[in-house]
Amino acid sequence: MPKVKFLPSQIETEAPKGETLLDTALSLGVSIQHACGGFCACTTCHCEIVEGLDNLEPAEQDELERMEVLDNRTPNSRLACQAKVRGTVVARVVNHD
Ligand code: FES
Repeated sequence: MPKVKFLPSQIETEAPKGETLLDTALSLGVSIQHACGGFCACTTCHCEIVEGLDNLEPAEQDELERMEVLDNRTPNSRLACQAKVRGTVVARVVNHD
């Protein structure tokens, strides 16, 4: 199974392929905002992918459009509720709960 690690907490686990970064984080008790509950409507679950950007399923149109409003977006930004794991990933949580 893919390994997923969150920064700055350094909490890591193995996650089933296809699980979202948000679900993985919440199952581990990682502090991450998710104001809309994971429906791609708020951007608070913003993560910067430090390693393994290509190990996530590519962003779909909804996520790309939602991220356009992010002031602090980087080329490695993803919304955790939309980013599905398919390989090892290190993700920095931007907004903590
Ligand atoms: S939790 Fe709202 S966009 Fe991800």
